[in-house]
Amino acid sequence: MFMDQFLITGSSRIAGEVTISGAKNAALPLLAAMILAETPTTLHNVPSLQDVRTLIELIGGMGIHIQKQDDTVTCDTKNIDNFYAPYDLVKTMRASILVLGPLLARFGEAEVSLPGGCAIGSRPVDQHLKAFEAMGAEISVENGYVKARAPKGGRLLGCHFSFDMITVGGTENVIMAAALAKGTTVLGNCALEPEVVDLANMLVAMGAKISGIGTATMTIEGVERLHGCEYSVVADRIETGSYLAGALMTRGDVLTKKTTASLLHPVLEKFEAMGAIITTGDDWIRAQMKGRPKPVDIRTQPHPGFPTDMQAQLMAICCLADGTSTIIENIFENRYMHVPELNRLGASIQVDGHTAVVKGVEKFTAAPVMATDLRASMSLVMAAATAEGDSLIDRIYHIDRGYEDVENKLRALGVTIERINTND
Ligand code: UD1
Repeated sequence: MFMDQFLITGSSRIAGEVTISGAKNAALPLLAAMILAETPTTLHNVPSLQDVRTLIELIGGMGIHIQKQDDTVTCDTKNIDNFYAPYDLVKTMRASILVLGPLLARFGEAEVSLPGGCAIGSRPVDQHLKAFEAMGAEISVENGYVKARAPKGGRLLGCHFSFDMITVGGTENVIMAAALAKGTTVLGNCALEPEVVDLANMLVAMGAKISGIGTATMTIEGVERLHGCEYSVVADRIETGSYLAGALMTRGDVLTKKTTASLLHPVLEKFEAMGAIITTGDDWIRAQMKGRPKPVDIRTQPHPGFPTDMQAQLMAICCLADGTSTIIENIFENRYMHVPELNRLGASIQVDGHTAVVKGVEKFTAAPVMATDLRASMSLVMAAATAEGDSLIDRIYHIDRGYEDVENKLRALGVTIERINTND
């Protein structure tokens, strides 16, 4: 599977209807939250994705009975026999760190591999660990593993903690832990992303006491135990935006179903500024595009700013705009890896530090390209779909991590796409 490629025969007008899946970035923390429940939990609208399979395997490895059938995951934690997340699985997906908070809160101990190449205090998870320490946990890093232990008595303690920077995963990990802590936790500078809200709502359905959901300060009154619940994953706003982007690139017309406009206002506003006609209903969003896109300036920011996970797809639209756009990436340092690939497809993009200047061109031209990360790969797929001729996209395992049933959804929108298994 890891060697699969996409062959895309371009020049498609992207038009049609597509049903949006549950959000990967909500499903992962919700799956981790299942560890907290003493009775069985059922989660619906879970997308079939590599990252979801990885986390299910990770949780199953702890002796927890967890299984996925169609889009429903059921989980029963009663036979858990270890609190360990091995490097082999964690290294493939940073979100694995989300099991640390639930394990530590419920069982008083956890041993979770650090996601690749980082030491304690360094960037990716320092905020998570700092918050757990503020809750009384003893944390050490040995042989690449975070070893965490709750204070005497086995329960974390409520505390006042404010994140140094806005972190989605950090906020999620810590609210899960605080839900079972002894006493009240007041968390400042929390992430406001819809996926954080979805997790907080599921925790409440499990019996947690949380106020301030969807605001920067959340107050969590710890309870002694949480019970199972039945819950459904929120729609994937990034998948929604990615397919709508296709309409803007091809004078197309895309209707996304089972999704909600309120999840992606910052993206829809930019699409409108680029000339799209956006219409919405309770559970659908439609983008229609007549002419060439207008250039825009964007900077990625935490929610409700423009999401970094839509930066590459927005850039692909800017590549075809009638003028020059400026993009500033504020969240991640190394998130322009798709730029050389888009340039291979005929774009004109220059990067200087955090800023990319995108000079619009009339059209993309077909070329062999390489997917570099999950969201970037979608920008290449869309660009290839508009280019005249055949483009071969390599390393599409990135796309399989985050986009459910991507070929069929693209075909329904008129894209000619074939998966080539180079192992054959
Ligand atoms: C989540 C999303 C990811 C999205 C990102 C930003 C999931 C599974 N992934 O990732 O798709 O791109 O939010 O919206 O939900 N940071 C620290 N220390 C920490 C934690 C984070 O320095 O302890 C830094 C990161 O390096 C990054 C920034 O803060 O520069 C934001 O990271 P964060 O919001 O934590 O992203 P993730 O939760 O990993």
